[in-house]
Amino acid sequence: MQDHHIDEDAALARIDVDRVRAETAGLDRRIHVNNAGASPPPDVVLEATIDYLRIEALEGGYETAAAKLDELDRVYGEASKMLHCSEHEVAFQQNATQAWWAGFNAVPLRAGDRILASTAEYVSSGIAMNQAVERGIEVELIPDDEHGQTSVAALVDMLDERVKLVCATHVPTSGGLINPVEQIGVAVKQGSDAFFLVDVCQSFGQLPVDVEAMKADFAAMTGRKFCRAPRGTGLLYQRDGLSGLKAPAVSDGWGSAWAAPWSVVPKSDARVHELFEYSFAAKLGFGLALEYANELGLDNIAARVGALASRLRTQLASIRGVAIADQGEHKSGIVTFTVDGLAAIDVKDHLTARGVNASVAQAVASQFAMAERGPDGFVRLSVHYFNTVDELDRVCAVVAELQPSTTLN
Ligand SMILES: Cc1ncc(COP(=O)(O)O)c(C=O)c1O
Repeated sequence: MQDHHIDEDAALARIDVDRVRAETAGLDRRIHVNNAGASPPPDVVLEATIDYLRIEALEGGYETAAAKLDELDRVYGEASKMLHCSEHEVAFQQNATQAWWAGFNAVPLRAGDRILASTAEYVSSGIAMNQAVERGIEVELIPDDEHGQTSVAALVDMLDERVKLVCATHVPTSGGLINPVEQIGVAVKQGSDAFFLVDVCQSFGQLPVDVEAMKADFAAMTGRKFCRAPRGTGLLYQRDGLSGLKAPAVSDGWGSAWAAPWSVVPKSDARVHELFEYSFAAKLGFGLALEYANELGLDNIAARVGALASRLRTQLASIRGVAIADQGEHKSGIVTFTVDGLAAIDVKDHLTARGVNASVAQAVASQFAMAERGPDGFVRLSVHYFNTVDELDRVCAVVAELQPSTTLN
């Protein structure tokens, strides 16, 4: 017990919480524990993004882009440090959905091919898989192990030469577990020629994400969640040198060269998935948000987030009527639970009214995982390194207000 406290204190101390709180305007207004939804940006990100819009308005959009090229390109350098890849393997996107679909659509698939997918897939990926089934492609779910995580052993047994794509999600939207994506990637590459597409949307920014160790061919992520970037930002990682990929369904003169009236030459790296037009201000802010995370260190961030989430689970579990819903041997900053006799949305609304930003993990966002386990949804709280122990106490006090009454007859 004593050791546990020493470990927890050490993990919490890996981030200078006073400093990071002083550097974010939004933290005094509300308790931000919906970081798996959207996290408040550091002031440096907010101010640079607004400044960029102002300069664009005064100087002209194209002229500002030319003058600020290095600052706009910061996103590639910082992302490549964070992901362990080269800058040219990273494409700027508007969100994780666009990034994931770009990777998915690049894989040539025909009727009779097999796709293996984790049960943790997000709604956007579920839609793509439903469409694939309509095209005669077989989509099979990889069973979970006894911890609720994607079973690597089951995956190994399912691989054969007809499997053309394996999809896995590092941290699901619907609960606190961390899937063993590195072991999954190794198994995919040892046991097949399939492409490996990883959804790191909920892990990017809260945990180390190493696309090399994952043996990922593609990885999709968003900016606004644990990276604390402006909304409308995302990234696609695409491994260099993949062969046989399809050209993007949507392209313009940035991703492809229209070399002659009947000749189009797509870019040969990840940037083929970029479009010419997007919010340049948001892209600039995204680069700064990644730099901020890299400076804090992803190991330090993960240690503090893990300690806060574990403390929150213990505290919530001690409240009468509360049941923690998280599975997983290894857990992330996402904490899910139910309150006896109350709908998750009502608990969330109560928290919101008391100044706590919370969310609901709904079955419609992850049917494969939730249809049976949580059709009515779970309350979802997601901590970040800037949250404090005092904030967690206050959140738990608000949840405790909902305790079933002890009316005596
Ligand atoms: C696991 C997971 N994947 C993908 C997405 C999609 O992200 P975006 O809304 O940026 O497209 C989400 C969004 O919540 C998610 O939780």
